[in-house]
Amino acid sequence: MSTPATIRTQPLKPGFGAEILDLDLRRADEETLAGVVDTFHRHGAILLRDQQLSPGELTDFIARFGEPEDHTLKEYTFEDFPKVYRLSNRVVDGRPIGAHNDGVGWHTDYSYKAEPVMATMLFAVEVPAEGSDTILADCVAAWEALPKERQAELDGKVLHHSYQHFMASREYGARELSDELKAENPDVFHPLVRTHPADGRKALWPSTGTVIEVMGMPNPEGLDLVQELVDYATQDRFTYRHKWQVGDILMWDNRCTLHTGTLFDDTKYIREMHRLWVRGDRPY
Ligand code: SIN
Repeated sequence: MSTPATIRTQPLKPGFGAEILDLDLRRADEETLAGVVDTFHRHGAILLRDQQLSPGELTDFIARFGEPEDHTLKEYTFEDFPKVYRLSNRVVDGRPIGAHNDGVGWHTDYSYKAEPVMATMLFAVEVPAEGSDTILADCVAAWEALPKERQAELDGKVLHHSYQHFMASREYGARELSDELKAENPDVFHPLVRTHPADGRKALWPSTGTVIEVMGMPNPEGLDLVQELVDYATQDRFTYRHKWQVGDILMWDNRCTLHTGTLFDDTKYIREMHRLWVRGDRPY
């Protein structure tokens, strides 16, 4: 489709992502909203500032990109809006309202599932004055910058992902899984180099946390390789660091990016983000 005149953009960084300027999603017409979806698909990530969307409006908005996906853990979703998950360090009546530091560490969302989520959207409700940036890595650019011989060595490798391992070993919020969660989240195997179904672009697609081995390679060599590739793909030249403002919507395509949250002084500041996911398909 051609971009409607109501959509004006600037890159998040040269060649990656788009900030959509001066657009109020509550007032946008159908053609403009279709243009927002199209902009997302062409740029790998979008940013919209100064939005005011309730959990219900966020649920309607994410549905324009595909089927909203359920969250693995249910305790921090809104009762009436189960597709909206809260990330927060806020405590109300002695109970946390959200998962705290949930996304710290380079990863791609839901990589422990056979069909990982296509997209993640974060909406900033309250943000610290410093820290808590979210960083996105452009894994297509990282792949394309590799020498051809290195690409040939890596293409075709398969990674073993484990939710059970991830939850038991992660730095923040580690826990043993219930039998029900274990049964719902068996180990899965995904390519290290992922092909984008829309246009065939290839992306380097490692992840930390969920990966326990590279198939056919002993550890520690296998995990060292994964770490080496994550370090490579997340260099400044491939990344965009987002500094949050209240009302920001940042959304990224998990099929061609990695991301990480970052820490903040949680004794001084409150952070509250609403997260939504779009269902994805089987990586190849
Ligand atoms: C996430 O990884 O889903 C959240 C990242 C963040 O909180 O900045």
